[in-house]
Amino acid sequence: MSQGRVIVIGAGVIGLTSAVRLLEANYDVTIVARDLPGDLTIEYASPWAGAHFRPLPVTNAAEALEQNLIRETYAEFEKLASSDPSSSVRIVPGIEYFDSPSKSYTDLKEEAGFCTWPEFRVLAQDELPGKGAGPIKWGATYRSWVLNSPVYLSWLQRQVELRGGRVIRHTLSAIPEAVFIASEQLKESQLEFVAVVNASGIGFGDPASFPSRGQFLLISNPCDATVSYQTADGEAFVIIPRPLSGGTLIGGTKEVNSWNPTPSEESTAGILENVAKMYPKLLTAPSNDPNGEPALHLLYPTVGRRPMRKGGLRLEKEISSIVLPQSGGFKSKTKELKIVHCYGAGGSGYKLSWGAARRVVELVGEP
Ligand SMILES: Cc1cc2nc3c(=O)[nH]c(=O)nc-3n(C[C@H](O)[C@H](O)[C@H](O)COP(=O)(O)OP(=O)(O)OC[C@H]3O[C@@H](n4cnc5c(N)ncnc54)[C@H](O)[C@@H]3O)c2cc1C
Ligand SMILES: *[C@@H]1O[C@H](CO)[C@@H](O)[C@H](O)[C@H]1NC(C)=O
Repeated sequence: MSQGRVIVIGAGVIGLTSAVRLLEANYDVTIVARDLPGDLTIEYASPWAGAHFRPLPVTNAAEALEQNLIRETYAEFEKLASSDPSSSVRIVPGIEYFDSPSKSYTDLKEEAGFCTWPEFRVLAQDELPGKGAGPIKWGATYRSWVLNSPVYLSWLQRQVELRGGRVIRHTLSAIPEAVFIASEQLKESQLEFVAVVNASGIGFGDPASFPSRGQFLLISNPCDATVSYQTADGEAFVIIPRPLSGGTLIGGTKEVNSWNPTPSEESTAGILENVAKMYPKLLTAPSNDPNGEPALHLLYPTVGRRPMRKGGLRLEKEISSIVLPQSGGFKSKTKELKIVHCYGAGGSGYKLSWGAARRVVELVGEP
C-alpha cells in the first residue's frame, strides 16, 4: 500500500537517489526539475562531476557525520559495481600523491578516518613518480569507485521510472508551486501529500549557498586507476576514468564564488602539464598513429559548479504552511507542508548520495 505522495524537487544525483529509496519504501514519487539527465547546463552540477571516491581526513564533528553517509554510499557502490555494470560504477585502485602532506594524512590514526578504507596502504618510495627524487614525497593507495556521471544519472532516472516514479520538467519559483504542478498531472489520484524533498542543489534563495567553479578536461586516453595529487603550493589535480568508453576526466580547479562559465586556457594548460607529470602511464600514442609521440589527447574542457553551502549539506526537516485554493478558487485553506531539505552537497554529492537518501526517507517518515 502507498505511504502517500512525495514530491522531489531536483533531478541531480541527490534528488534521483532519494526518489529511488522513497519508491522502495512505498511512497508515490513525482520529481519536478528544471534540468534532467541528458541535459548539460552549467546550473546542473551532477553531469560535470568526475565522479570518484577519495577519502578525506576527519577533523571535526560535521565531517564525522558526513563520513558515515560516505561509508554507506561506498557499500552501495561496491554492490552496484558487481550487480549492475550498466550503472557504469566500477571499482578501481585509488592513488594519492603529495609533495608535502599535512599530518592529518600521514598520522594514520584510525579516528582520523583516512587510513580506514579497504586495501589502504602507504606507497613505498620507489612506487612514487620519480621514485621519490621528484617533488612527490608521499603517497598511498586504497580501493576506490568511479562512475560515468552522465550515464549514471540516466541509469538512476530509469531506476526511478522502473519503480513507478514520475519525472516532470518544470522551473519552480517557490517550493509550494511544486505541489500545484504535481497535482495538475495527477488529478485523478486521491493520495495525501506527505512531504516535499528540496534537492535543488545550489537552488534558489538560500544566502548560505554559493558555487565553487570546477574546470576539468575530458581526454580520450583510458586510465586504470583514479589518481589525486596535492602540490606543495596547495594546488590539487585528479584523474578520474569514466567507465563505459567515456574517456577520462582530468582536472581541476576549485574557484569559490566564481560564476565564470567560460573555460580558461591557462587552466587547461596547467592541468595538462601537471597531470602528465603526476601519472606518465596515462600518456598514449594518438589513436590514428600507434608509433606517434605519447601524449594526453584533449577532447574538450568542461566547467561545472559545485553546490557549496556554509555549514555543509543541509539535511533536515522543516514544517511550513501552504495556502491551497478550494474548488472554484474563491476559498482557500492553509495546510501544513513538510519539507525535507537535502542540498548543498558541495564537492561530495556522489560520495554522500546513498547515505543521504536513506536519511531523507527517515525524515519523510517522521511525524
Ligand atoms: C567539476 C566537478 C567535479 C565533481 N567531482 C565529484 C566527485 O568526484 N565526487 C563527488 O562525490 N562529487 C563530485 N562533485 C560534486 C557533485 O557533482 C555535486 O555535489 C552533486 O552533483 C550535487 O547534486 P545535487 O543533486 O544536489 O544538485 P544538481 O545536480 O545541481 O541538481 C539540482 C537539481 O535541482 C533542479 N533545480 C534547481 N533549481 C530549480 C528550480 N528553481 N526549479 C526546478 N528545479 C530546480 C535542477 O534543475 C536539478 O535538476 C563534483 C562537482 C563538480 C562541478
Ligand atoms: C530549497 O533549497 C534551495 C537550495 O537548492 C535553497 O536555496 C532554498 O532556500 C530551499 N528552499 C526553502 C524554502 O528553504
